[in-house]
Amino acid sequence: PRKIIIDTDPGQDDAVAILLALASPELEVLGITCVAGNVPLPLTAKNARVVCELAGRGDIKVFAGCDRPLVRPLVTAEYVHGKTGLDGIALPEPAMALQPGHAVDFLIETLRREPAGTVTLCPLGPLTNIATALQKAPDIAPKIAEIVLMGGAYFEVGNTTPAAEFNIHVDPQAAEIVFHSGVPLVVLPLDATHQVLTNRARIEAFRGLGTPVGHAVASWTDFFERFDMEKYGSEGAPLHDPCVIAYLLEPGLFEGRHINVEIETVSELTMGMTVADWWRVTDREPNAYFVGRANAEGFYALLTERLARL
Ligand code: BDR
Ligand code: CA
Repeated sequence: PRKIIIDTDPGQDDAVAILLALASPELEVLGITCVAGNVPLPLTAKNARVVCELAGRGDIKVFAGCDRPLVRPLVTAEYVHGKTGLDGIALPEPAMALQPGHAVDFLIETLRREPAGTVTLCPLGPLTNIATALQKAPDIAPKIAEIVLMGGAYFEVGNTTPAAEFNIHVDPQAAEIVFHSGVPLVVLPLDATHQVLTNRARIEAFRGLGTPVGHAVASWTDFFERFDMEKYGSEGAPLHDPCVIAYLLEPGLFEGRHINVEIETVSELTMGMTVADWWRVTDREPNAYFVGRANAEGFYALLTERLARL
């Protein structure tokens, strides 16, 4: 199986992404590193363990990482995810412990230990942990197989400010480090994730699994949906973060371009914007595979089939 580390700030959609990874034999989750984002670090570090236990995987290593962005003050998103970050269903307090040590050190040690090009990083939140690891240990950059992340937007512009997507907006300085790291990058921006919307039939398919996992995913997506439908008047809610894992499992569900993507870190007005050279109007070197299309039917079929295994 392909070795991955999930870096995350759960979040209902992060939670579904974690479940999708744990349900998939093609992937070996070496660890989960938590970061402050949707909610503060103590909650993301707890929520990740709640999700592992829901999947019956109390053996997964979960680490707490950075509790705030590199430079800017932390901005959270309880207005989307609820007070706990995982509102929608009450789940038991986790019995499994957090691993000792900092998430950043786990990232560095794992990448140094494993053969070069065998570990893929899957960031689903602000890029603070990943950027801190790259800064502290630049030798790990050439050892990373690939970074497949959820963040940014181009045609779909911002969901947090008119110009910026949440994950990049929360820590633009970290994003800039990652986008300039030279590591092969795959970016699942809002352009892709806004094409995989929940609807009644898709949520009922989760519930219809008749398992605790199916029930939890249906409850989370029900909760998550109300926000997007009220705010954007959209059909349902985008399951952003599971796109990262679905891309690893079935890249054919997605279509993008190798292009240059720069991060705005100066202008307050457009802070955290991903300036994506989709039409290749500059001669800046491509540094990312930026996904613009996603196959929603295929995505939900894959997700539901995998969740049924848990
Ligand atoms: C991203 O922000 C968070 O609210 C979600 O978990 C996702 O990672 C979408 O902009
Ligand atoms: Ca997230």
